[in-house]
Amino acid sequence: MIANTTYARLKEKLSEVVPDAELRYKAELADEILRLKEERNAVILAHNYMEPALFYSVPDFVGDSLELSRKAADCEQDVIVFCGVRFMAETAKILSPQKTVLLPAKKAGCSLAASITAEDVRQLKAQFPGVPVVTYVNTYADVKAECDICCTSSNAAAVVESLGTDTVIFLPDEYLAKNTAKETGKHIIFPTRRMPNQVDGSVDYQLIGWHGRCEVHEQFTVEDIENARRQFPDVLVLAHPECSPEVVEASDFSGSTTAMVKYVKEHKAERYLILTECAMGDNIAAENPDKEMLRMCSIRCPHMNEITLEDTRDALLYDRYVIEVPEDIRERAYRSVKRMIEISAKD
Ligand code: 13P
Ligand code: SF4
Repeated sequence: MIANTTYARLKEKLSEVVPDAELRYKAELADEILRLKEERNAVILAHNYMEPALFYSVPDFVGDSLELSRKAADCEQDVIVFCGVRFMAETAKILSPQKTVLLPAKKAGCSLAASITAEDVRQLKAQFPGVPVVTYVNTYADVKAECDICCTSSNAAAVVESLGTDTVIFLPDEYLAKNTAKETGKHIIFPTRRMPNQVDGSVDYQLIGWHGRCEVHEQFTVEDIENARRQFPDVLVLAHPECSPEVVEASDFSGSTTAMVKYVKEHKAERYLILTECAMGDNIAAENPDKEMLRMCSIRCPHMNEITLEDTRDALLYDRYVIEVPEDIRERAYRSVKRMIEISAKD
């Protein structure tokens, strides 16, 4: 009975996006997960990049990194199943240490989170004493513990501006740093370990960056946009701020994953090029059947794609994979994440 209901709901939403046989199979899996979720008193938080059948069936909340952090801080259930990548599940644990946080895939990494270590941050702080450190939420807990405040793609400029300083260390995404520098009017420098132990006094405003990149968004090019515009002159182009500044500049809009979802919903154009993980294009297409989403599905996030309905069921069945953050690191990381949430709440 429930299977029919879930199947019917998925069919209505996704018949143009997912083959029928897959929908039937996934609706059954989804029902099993919904039952287990009740039994375990669990909440499922899912990032906008989750594949359509998962995205539209089992989560209690979907959203971008900031929205999911807020939910992780507020939810009342005993267990949080995080359908996203490890740094997101870690952030949930940092905010809700008393809860069991489960990540359905053992690894589900992120090229940005892997690009920097806590020791790298300590060295930068020694190189630029007194300069506040902002780290993108796409980092692991020990890196967050070394910083003053975190940011996400939806609040990076606001976080930088909230510090009220001429100079900010902004880690680890080179492109987000460059896009944020442009938005805030700050210059950017990329230090090496050989740099003198001083900030150049001739520069009034600056971000000190790092060479991390998202392995997905760095692949989109201005040529991709030009090709789409040649073929579809009316297309509106949306790029995530992890794309290069050139790609962002050539686009019509840049924002967090949820900001992109809202943009399509609120605009009347018939066609959109979505420069981010392809599954999100599917999810937006399902929500906007009268609009066409152009998406480049050869470029995928292998980490987000590790999260499946099967693994989500197994996470609840076998209590895996439990996310732990050592308490001394968690306490320090908590301050940075909490500070970000407080600043964003004022928006
Ligand atoms: P959002 O915070 O915009 O959802 O971005 C998360 C992410 O990992 C994008 O690649
Ligand atoms: Fe990390 Fe990029 Fe994947 Fe987002 S899309 S999780 S930034 S690798």
